[in-house]
Amino acid sequence: MQLIPVRLKTNPYTIYITDNQISKIPALISGLKIGNFGIIITSPKVYSLYKKTLAAAFDKNHYKVIIVCNGEEAKSQKYFFRVIEKILEQDQLNRKIFIVALGGGTIGDLGGFIAATYKRGIPFVQIPTTLLAQIDASIGGKTAIDMPQAKNIIGAFYQPKAVLIDQSFLKTLPKKEVKQGLAEAIKYAIISKPEFFDFLAKNAKNILSLEKNCLSQLITTCVKAKVKVVEEDENETKGIRTILNFGHTLAHALETALNYRKLSHGEAVALGMIYAADLSALLGKCSNNTAQQIKQIINNFGLPTKISADYRVILKAFTHDKKFISGKIRLVLLKALGEVEVTDGIPIEIIKKSIKSFLQ
Ligand SMILES: NC(=O)c1ccc[n+]([C@@H]2O[C@H](COP(=O)([O-])OP(=O)(O)OC[C@H]3O[C@@H](n4cnc5c(N)ncnc54)[C@H](O)[C@@H]3O)[C@@H](O)[C@H]2O)c1
Ligand SMILES: [Zn+2]
Repeated sequence: MQLIPVRLKTNPYTIYITDNQISKIPALISGLKIGNFGIIITSPKVYSLYKKTLAAAFDKNHYKVIIVCNGEEAKSQKYFFRVIEKILEQDQLNRKIFIVALGGGTIGDLGGFIAATYKRGIPFVQIPTTLLAQIDASIGGKTAIDMPQAKNIIGAFYQPKAVLIDQSFLKTLPKKEVKQGLAEAIKYAIISKPEFFDFLAKNAKNILSLEKNCLSQLITTCVKAKVKVVEEDENETKGIRTILNFGHTLAHALETALNYRKLSHGEAVALGMIYAADLSALLGKCSNNTAQQIKQIINNFGLPTKISADYRVILKAFTHDKKFISGKIRLVLLKALGEVEVTDGIPIEIIKKSIKSFLQ
């Protein structure tokens, strides 16, 4: 077991990275002393795959499972209130409730937001089961649900009491979902570590087939990279954490404009990173060669490199993004691998033109 501390001033916690230790999770949670009744929020897919394992590990007198839905729809008003209704039924005298978010990033975001808001905040634990959630979404305390007009538009910074990453959950993850996580791994390679970029480029085949050592190295590297940024700028007030949004401005606009259906988050991030790199090259911030290297690695991992979509719809979603402030859009641009800059000084006309040409 590997322990990675998240050294935050008011809410420090530990990330535990394990393999084949799912049965030990309840004991770990017990040791945290965060309550006496756990509400496990999960998706139908995860529940059907791990029903027996969960029943054997979690005592039903101390845990209740609530199943929402697979995918982005879980992050909606409908499921937010549906889960709250169910928690209310369980919230009885002498029960000290806590939340366990067991699933992909959508479950973590929903479960975390419920934990942040129910009774103005109850403890929660993240058990991420997708690669994307293990290396990114479960860490750092961003929780949120969506509105049809904008993604993650209702949310809170709310830290978990622990993150329990067990690599063995990934054995059942379909290849398509593994790739979603790899999009975020490429993001970490671009924003923080050129050596990690080389590692990904060299080991693409082993990573895609979930070779144990490669996977373990990938998870640890991404987790540490995210923890470092979060420790420096927990609530995104210093402009440091913003770099984690590399590729995400266009990504969120694409996801919203396509009703959270046509593209998954990782695919949208892959496209958003290509757009951000191309725009950086167009503005002379990075070389064409660097932008090309990014497109190449995204392609090698089987992620999309182009999309055609209605420009007006995408632009409208762009302007609803949280990063769109008084007519200016905040973008993370690339100078070189491992070197990015946050800017809101790009004229809107250039942004409009570049989006238009990207979508053709
Ligand atoms: N809070 C953050 O900091 C942060 C960071 C990155 C992404 N996100 C959010 O994460 C979400 C995407 O997360 P995701 O890619 O994990 O998608 P997801 O949660 O929709 O999971 C993808 C699919 O995989 C299934 N699944 C989960 N674990 C499985 C397993 N072990 N075996 C088989 N199937 C499994 C799920 O039921 C679902 O159908 C987006 O909403 C994105 O905005 C949040
Ligand atoms: Zn993301």
